[in-house]
Amino acid sequence: MTSDTAPTSIGARPPALPAEPNAFVGRERDLADLRRLLSETRAVTLCGPGGIGKTRLAVRVARALAGDQPDGVWFIELADVGSGAVDLDPVARRVADVLGLADETGRAPADFLADALRRRRALVVLDNCEHLVEECASLCRTLLARCDRLRILATSREPLRVPGENVWRVPPLSFPAARDEPAGPARHEAVRLFMARATAARPDFALTPGNAPALAELCRALDGVPLALELAAARVRVLSLEQIADRLTDRFRLLTAGDRTAPPRQRTLRAAIDWSHELLDEPERILLRRLSVFAGWSLDQAEQVCADGLLPQEQILDLLTALVDKSLVVVDREVAGETRFRLLESIREYAVERLAEAGEEQALRGRHRAAVLELLEHHAELGVAHRPASWRRRVELYDRYDVEQHNVRVALAWSRERGDVEEGLRLCLAARLFWGPRGHYAEAAKWSDWFLERGGDADPRVLGPALVGRAQLAVERREFDVAETCARAGLEHCRAVGDARTVAAGLGVLVHVAMRAGEDDRALALAEESLSVARAQADPWNEGLAQFWRGVVLLRGAGCARPRPSSSPGPR
Ligand SMILES: Nc1ncnc2c1ncn2[C@@H]1O[C@H](COP(=O)(O)OP(=O)(O)OP(=O)(O)O)[C@@H](O)[C@H]1O
Ligand SMILES: [Mg+2]
Repeated sequence: MTSDTAPTSIGARPPALPAEPNAFVGRERDLADLRRLLSETRAVTLCGPGGIGKTRLAVRVARALAGDQPDGVWFIELADVGSGAVDLDPVARRVADVLGLADETGRAPADFLADALRRRRALVVLDNCEHLVEECASLCRTLLARCDRLRILATSREPLRVPGENVWRVPPLSFPAARDEPAGPARHEAVRLFMARATAARPDFALTPGNAPALAELCRALDGVPLALELAAARVRVLSLEQIADRLTDRFRLLTAGDRTAPPRQRTLRAAIDWSHELLDEPERILLRRLSVFAGWSLDQAEQVCADGLLPQEQILDLLTALVDKSLVVVDREVAGETRFRLLESIREYAVERLAEAGEEQALRGRHRAAVLELLEHHAELGVAHRPASWRRRVELYDRYDVEQHNVRVALAWSRERGDVEEGLRLCLAARLFWGPRGHYAEAAKWSDWFLERGGDADPRVLGPALVGRAQLAVERREFDVAETCARAGLEHCRAVGDARTVAAGLGVLVHVAMRAGEDDRALALAEESLSVARAQADPWNEGLAQFWRGVVLLRGAGCARPRPSSSPGPR
């Protein structure tokens, strides 16, 4: 028994660090960074979603630092420690157990632990703190304040928020990011991990030029998360890589073949996410499931789409921050002055299931589409100068589109699924401005044709411009027959409803068709008609284009040598 004055003694030698069950892959830079960080600071928390590799990394860091810790490295596993209903301080008690300290009646365990670790040069690793964040934070606060040579390395899905804590986000393993990037085994950590586990499961398994694209796709779909990659690799015993990649659409059923020696939390992908989901409060759960309708979002968008009577708008910022802290939402880069957020794909699919269970899917997907459409139509108006905006703002619209395009696809797919032709046509029309410069011609044609084929009864105010938009696209794809048919049909609708702006644009398409047919006189007449329609509307965008086409016709052949007087006044 120790008294208040006698130093409490800790077990002479720390137990061995957990054995590594298999080969450790990559993370050389992460290890070097963490060694440096822990030589300069006293508290580091490795944060990240379930299965990202926090524990494996912590064990590696601990092993690398063992030589600098004369009083040892103490690894404390907390995943199986229950919260303090029975025991008031379960974390401190588990640490005391591992340190070999006997209970001291009348003293709080944190108190005699601090005595025992005072002046010790030791590293304490607290593994899996997320379900006991408060208790871990309180112990760390005490130990860091009273033991000035002690270092603490924690792993947690959520930061502890104690003074002096350095939160270090564990990144996914690197994977072939670009669609056409092959899955070279040496270059990407995710590929290396998959191959290591796949060959352990099936020794004759090999990466070939034939299956490498499927592996690259798989690593991308699993966001480079080691646990998910391991669960997928276990399937090579009976499935080809292509089959595994195909079946990822139902990933929660596929990724269930975890190692029986793994903790229950890590035996299936669903269990790994359940563990985090169970730690959320109700408003956080509601927001998480609702965010699953996005393919990336900004705070404004989350507020616009996810808030309602159940989830007041003014709470969204705090709830979103909590989900980021709990490693369920990823903070992406900033675009046009706004921070973007996203969900890892496995978490998104999990949240989609929760959304359906809550019966909110139709409403939320509908709200998502309405928000996408509103934003895209606004951007299209700015883009073609129908609303005033600075040049810089207009250029930024394209950067915005690069991130928004995934949401546009989600909204288009939802419209197709429901057969909402008018909304689909409006999306196609608004996206047209961006599809061209980004070279997404084939995709643009695919979507537009799907909705146009079913759009016979659509409102002519939507159908007309959509047809003209399709005609413009056909010109860009050099499909002049399609261009002419669509432009003529579109012009008829636009004239009928008095949409002069689109009439000017549709005439422009016919200029191209006429030039292509070698009918320059007709082309010139059409360009001039387009010009006068645009001028009458005070529509500088179409006026500029009509001037341009007129110039092109005049520059062709004889027109170049003999400029013809315009029937309307020259440029203003
Ligand atoms: N760098 C790596 N090399 C080899 N295997 C790894 C690596 N990182 C993670 N793994 C494996 O992936 C699985 C998940 O890793 P780990 O247990 O470290 O995740 P975690 O982030 O601690 O998850 P949790 O939040 O559930 O505790 C484990 O089976 C682990 O062995
Ligand atoms: Mg862990």
